Amino acid sequence: MIILDDMEGAYYHTKKSVDEYIKMAEGINGSELIEKLKDFLPENSTVLEIGSGPGSDWEILDTYYRVTGSDNSTEFVNRLLSKYPNGQFLKLNAVTLGTDQKFNGIYSNKVLHHLTDDELHTSINRQYELLEVDGIICHSFWKGEGSEVFKGMFVNNHTEKELPTLFGDKFEIQLMESYLEFEEGDSILLIARKNKIAK
Ligand SMILES: C[S@@+](CC[C@H](N)C(=O)[O-])C[C@H]1O[C@@H](n2cnc3c(N)ncnc32)[C@H](O)[C@@H]1O
Repeated sequence: MIILDDMEGAYYHTKKSVDEYIKMAEGINGSELIEKLKDFLPENSTVLEIGSGPGSDWEILDTYYRVTGSDNSTEFVNRLLSKYPNGQFLKLNAVTLGTDQKFNGIYSNKVLHHLTDDELHTSINRQYELLEVDGIICHSFWKGEGSEVFKGMFVNNHTEKELPTLFGDKFEIQLMESYLEFEEGDSILLIARKNKIAK
């Protein structure tokens, strides 16, 4: 029996689109974000990366942390497994994060913008559950208002006013700043610590 992935045919889920993305993203990585993360999360901590894609950020995280990569694309996960045979990779949806493992940190770079506000709310609650006491999250977002569709994918933009509202019940913001990915101030980095008592 052939089991079809329910995302088969969608961007990031086909060989062609993954080849295209890898070419487009060549030379781009989250080294500057990870430098900031190191101010809040000690080296050798355990980290879950959501949406590892080609593994550019996973490779950098791996030099400082005990990192588990993940993605909801079978195509990306299979490539990660063969490119980094000693790495640990899971097939996880950012919304449900279906793993029993716990982590000191959770990291994503330009992934959570694919979630609706409701899905992001579910993901934030799940991230809270997966984090150890004093756990740290580090996520980047596209900065802007409203949502759009890019290459057939849902893209949810966020503002610095909105993010504390979304994360504030479960996390205490440690750092929130805009930065340049392609254009001045087009992105936001958010680093936050798990609240001792969730509201
Ligand atoms: C813009 S890429 C970022 C990849 C990686 N962070 C990097 O910097 O190279 C977005 C990644 O998120 C993954 N992704 C999108 N929606 C997801 C979801 N709901 N759950 C898990 N991964 C998702 C895609 O498959 C893709 O690998």
